[in-house]
Amino acid sequence: MLVKDYAAINRKWWNNATPAHAGSKFYDIPRFIKGKTSLQSIEIDELGKVRGKTLLHLLCHFGMDTLSWARKGAITTGVDISDSSIRLAKKLSRQTGIPSTFICSDIYELPKILDKKFDIIFASYGVLLWLSNIKKFAEIINNFLCDGGIFYIVEVHPFTNILSYDFKLLYKYFDRGPDMDDSGTYIDWEKAKGVTYEWRYTIGDVINALVNNGLKIEYMHEFPFSMYDQFPGFMEKNKKGQYVLKNKKIQIPLLFSLKATK
Ligand SMILES: C[S@@+](CC[C@H](N)C(=O)[O-])C[C@H]1O[C@@H](n2cnc3c(N)ncnc32)[C@H](O)[C@@H]1O
Repeated sequence: MLVKDYAAINRKWWNNATPAHAGSKFYDIPRFIKGKTSLQSIEIDELGKVRGKTLLHLLCHFGMDTLSWARKGAITTGVDISDSSIRLAKKLSRQTGIPSTFICSDIYELPKILDKKFDIIFASYGVLLWLSNIKKFAEIINNFLCDGGIFYIVEVHPFTNILSYDFKLLYKYFDRGPDMDDSGTYIDWEKAKGVTYEWRYTIGDVINALVNNGLKIEYMHEFPFSMYDQFPGFMEKNKKGQYVLKNKKIQIPLLFSLKATK
């Protein structure tokens, strides 16, 4: 049987999607260059002060969030599998004069090329589905965290994995994948067509992977809003710029955040 190189397939898709993302209103690079943070209030409020702390940003895409943390005084390192994302991240760092290290690597290869400990490890919005092995991911977090360090993630809630883009109850919560996806990209479902392979994890999978690696869960918060139009046609933006379901009779968890310490 032919074994698929999932990492190579996904890297190719992300290399293709990056230019579309870079030119999008969703990411709004010109505003970021002028000084606007790309971070959302959830992570800014929950992670708190980062000045002087070393921060490792996993699956950082083209580094706007990494650089936004650096603007707040963190000493940042961003990691991503996509060459075009990392090239753009380095360009943004030069253009804005915000210093940051950026490394192009599959997350699972990172321990082979980076030998350092960090005060904070950060990951956000659209990370879990790219992880072929959640247990190994937690092992890697543990490996890169210094004693007393913080792992923080804010992420699409796994509950929504059971729903299709047109808000139908279609999928199995306990199906881990990998599943083939050719639906385009979240900034424009018509763009960046092509195949990716994605995984699904339950909330329990995430918590247990961290706990089994000796991390202590400080909290897990759930939110009834999203930062993007996850179910086109079924969502509207509220005054805070968050996407909520139009049908007010329904309320489901759309995001979660979790803080763990070593
Ligand atoms: C949805 S984006 C992350 C979103 C990020 N919060 C943002 O909006 O800037 C997912 C990122 O994960 C990266 N990625 C996917 N699989 C990866 C892997 N195995 N190792 C490292 N990065 C990976 C992709 O290249 C992409 O940049």
